[in-house]
Amino acid sequence: MRAAFLASGAGSNLQVMLEHVAAGRLPVTPVLVLSNNPQAGALEHARRHGVPVWCKDHRGIKREEFDAEMVGAIRAAGAQVVVLAGYMRILSREFIQAFSGGILNIHPAVLPSFAGAAGGPDALNYQVRISGCTVHFVSEEPDAGPVIIQAAVPVCAADSLDELMSRIHAMEHRIFPQAVRWFAEGRLKAEGRKVTLLPAPGKSAALASVGNSAVGPWLVSPALEDF
Ligand code: GRF
Repeated sequence: MRAAFLASGAGSNLQVMLEHVAAGRLPVTPVLVLSNNPQAGALEHARRHGVPVWCKDHRGIKREEFDAEMVGAIRAAGAQVVVLAGYMRILSREFIQAFSGGILNIHPAVLPSFAGAAGGPDALNYQVRISGCTVHFVSEEPDAGPVIIQAAVPVCAADSLDELMSRIHAMEHRIFPQAVRWFAEGRLKAEGRKVTLLPAPGKSAALASVGNSAVGPWLVSPALEDF
């Protein structure tokens, strides 16, 4: 499956996925990495892995115009899935409709708690004792699309934001490649808010639909299979 990635920042999620692709563990072909930030570390990861990049500073360009350019570039690259790997800008309705049902996002909190651009800090400031991350399909309302997979991590009393975010990032790096892999394998069936993980070929339905997995002291659901 041909995949386009959008990223605005350091690109650690992108990096992990490109490494899995290179190692043959993730059945996608990265055809384009797009960014709205010329300083994004994600661009370096793309170049190092030989993935074409499209980058433009969004400042001063109308959202609809900017997003229409991205739609054109993604279509020209023939992408069949759009992966938001830390893309820190709200996408226009037109963009989301152009790839309806085929956009995946990672959010650094257990949705629907702490939606928005500051999900990590908001959870810490709220003094929750458990936070985590969510991969979901993108719908027009930000951070509100159908949930694919979530991971929980503890929030320790003495946590700094960096400590909490590095714990969350570690889990993002597990669940995001997993979700992209399931999508690429055609194993995610979305009906309204409900996302069903279909069994892997040759496996029983029970194995795919039931369960969560403990990763260290942390919880992931559905259970990780590959990462
Ligand atoms: C992640 O925390 C993700 O949840 C959020 O943006 C961050 C991107 O991190 N949407 P990175 O650029 O992949 O390191």
